[in-house]
Amino acid sequence: MGAATAEAPARKPRAGRPPATPLVATVSPTSEHLTSVRAPLLGWYDRNKRDLPWRRTKDAYAIWLSEVMLQQTQVSTVIPYWERFLKRFPTVRALASAPLDDVLSGWKGLGYYTRARNLHRAAQEIVARCGGALPSTAAELLELPGFGRYTAGAVASIAFGEEAPLVDGNVARVLSRIFEVEGLPGDRQREATLWALATALVKGERPGDLNQALMEHGATTCRPENPLCLLCPVRGACVAFRKGRVDELPPAKVRATPKKLTLAVAVWPHAGTLLFARRADAGLFGGLWELPAAEVPEDATDAEARARLAAALGVDVTLEAPLGTVKRQLTHRDLTLRLLRVSGPRRPTRCDAFQELRWCSAKDAEALGMSTAMQRALDTALGAGVLAGG
Ligand code: ADE
Repeated sequence: MGAATAEAPARKPRAGRPPATPLVATVSPTSEHLTSVRAPLLGWYDRNKRDLPWRRTKDAYAIWLSEVMLQQTQVSTVIPYWERFLKRFPTVRALASAPLDDVLSGWKGLGYYTRARNLHRAAQEIVARCGGALPSTAAELLELPGFGRYTAGAVASIAFGEEAPLVDGNVARVLSRIFEVEGLPGDRQREATLWALATALVKGERPGDLNQALMEHGATTCRPENPLCLLCPVRGACVAFRKGRVDELPPAKVRATPKKLTLAVAVWPHAGTLLFARRADAGLFGGLWELPAAEVPEDATDAEARARLAAALGVDVTLEAPLGTVKRQLTHRDLTLRLLRVSGPRRPTRCDAFQELRWCSAKDAEALGMSTAMQRALDTALGAGVLAGG
């Protein structure tokens, strides 16, 4: 297992196609330089690669699933999800014919649910257009929902042996150091150079292993901080190492401070059930289930929060008691959930603000696709005994 490794999770590479006017790469390595990277890297990979379950299969669907799950999630977290998901949806056909709700529930806890929705849509297209078999080239894969250049390159090279390049956050760092690529993450000229380098490097035998070696090397050795240069198989070919610039490359991305988002959350018990709502498909937590939530100003009073919930649910709502808050840090949001136990004279079964409302027992709620933040809110509410005594 990779659980104990100090692994740098790969950031989701930006989906999308190359710019209409291709930018010119600013670094053009010689074939000797490329060879002096390829050979030792592949040798190192053969000796050191982690024994990961998706490396024991040739099933393109299973490999695709691993690549989608590994975007923004660490290997040790992904392994049990990948195994469970494959048991539940063992083939593209099984996934395509499953209701989206089941797929989202299988994804519960992994976050970034757009990945699951795209996976489902792509599976349906693969069945409709190709009879259930994944297309085998990066160019064809790019046409499917959720496939950006990274995922297309990963699946085409690993599952089908195409000399298709890929660049994720780990690969970008490795290449920036070896070839001394300047520029900030996100800079278009830098991206063009990195993709050109990855394209040149992947040409040759074992393209899938070469790509995985680059990623593995970035995750375990050529780490963002404290890189293990003394253990590095390509130290001799690394320009940043030779020039003492490893700590400077790549420069750290300046991250925008996450915005604060406060939601009032209705905890509405009735006869052993709670009220749940499914959000609209677009936007944060799109399509997921939740205890009905409405955005409120950070400093809203309980009375204001109650009023927002009543407006969202379209019925009169009485505030019974505040049940505390749940805080969670998302990539772009500082999320605060304010739990309010509520009741009302008329129990809603539909409203404009949500796709669907459902009254569910705690047991039935386990099958709903819910964000980790909302799962915490639900656990807090149940821990406060809102369903105790029926
Ligand atoms: N990160 C994402 N996919 C990977 C793979 N196949 N090997 C190593 N690291 C990865």
